[in-house]
Amino acid sequence: MQPILITGTAGFIGFHLARHLLAQGQTVIGVDNFNDYYRVQLKRDRHDQLANSVGYRGYEMDVCDRPRLEQLMAERQPACVVHLAAQAGVRYSLLHPQAYQRANLEGFLNILECCRHARPTPRLIYASSSSVYGGSTVLPFTEDQRVDAPLSLYAATKKANELMAHSYSHLFGLQTIGLRFFTVYGPWGRPDMAMWLFTEAMLQQRAIPVYNYGDMHRDFTYVDDIVAGVTACIQAATLPRCEIFNIGNNRSERLLDLIHLLAQELGIAEPKMDLLPMQDGDVPATYASVERLHAAVGYAPTTPIAVGVPKFVRWYRSYHRV
Ligand SMILES: NC(=O)c1ccc[n+]([C@@H]2O[C@H](COP(=O)([O-])OP(=O)(O)OC[C@H]3O[C@@H](n4cnc5c(N)ncnc54)[C@H](O)[C@@H]3O)[C@@H](O)[C@H]2O)c1
Repeated sequence: MQPILITGTAGFIGFHLARHLLAQGQTVIGVDNFNDYYRVQLKRDRHDQLANSVGYRGYEMDVCDRPRLEQLMAERQPACVVHLAAQAGVRYSLLHPQAYQRANLEGFLNILECCRHARPTPRLIYASSSSVYGGSTVLPFTEDQRVDAPLSLYAATKKANELMAHSYSHLFGLQTIGLRFFTVYGPWGRPDMAMWLFTEAMLQQRAIPVYNYGDMHRDFTYVDDIVAGVTACIQAATLPRCEIFNIGNNRSERLLDLIHLLAQELGIAEPKMDLLPMQDGDVPATYASVERLHAAVGYAPTTPIAVGVPKFVRWYRSYHRV
């Protein structure tokens, strides 16, 4: 069986995907540069879990390092490359634009080039983002909407990835499948994302910063549903040569409802909130139509926040011993 190469395996989604594929008996090659965008120990802890698995081989490597990546692909001949490594985060892109240029544009081009020249040529599945929909108020978001008005550089790089992938599919016949992830959460999540920040603040009895005075909606997607959808794309016998899919929970939740659910799970009667104006780069609402991915691979998310949030809280408490 040819291996699956995943970039970003020390990251949140990459770790979960790798763990799932390994449990299925797949061989997985992981690539990550362990950068310090957020606490590196969390990345090491995720990686340590994978490193003990039969069938896993991890490489500390930057996706911008073309010769090493090319050599790795020549040696291991992956059937599929799942490219998740990126500089994530909307707010950080206002302060550190160069990090996005390097990881998300230069890194992505390297991945395209390495896939293009690899033999056999792998299927490329890559992470795009719901942020490409910008401030669209046409809900739910469908893939055929125009998305050419990004509200952050992060979103612009993700849209650029979709365009770059299209050109490589057209020119070189490379199969490229872009997945627009919608606010992913769950155990081993990201410390820069709302679910983690709110939990941390509530446990420390600090006020939660709530933007747009709480008038925010998000399609929160539990990580196991994401993993199921990505796995279905890896294993599908046939998929179009070049496609974009939303991958979300197909429900848009009020942010205030999420906060109250979190508070309830944490045993906090009245969460303290600091109601603030909208942040630059942020979008008021996301809501994924998932019909296209359902039609292609049978994707059907099964985890409402009432089920996923308690799982996250249990993990958070046990990881931090709080
Ligand atoms: N988590 C979400 O809600 C969400 C939503 C939309 C899109 N995405 C996208 O999904 C992908 C995975 O997101 P995540 O939440 O797991 O993020 P993450 O930050 O936890 O994981 C990304 C991993 O990539 C690694 N990385 C970054 N730059 C690299 C480079 N140049 N070379 C090698 N490794 C590098 C990081 O060290 C990190 O471990 C990203 O592309 C992100 O933009 C995530």
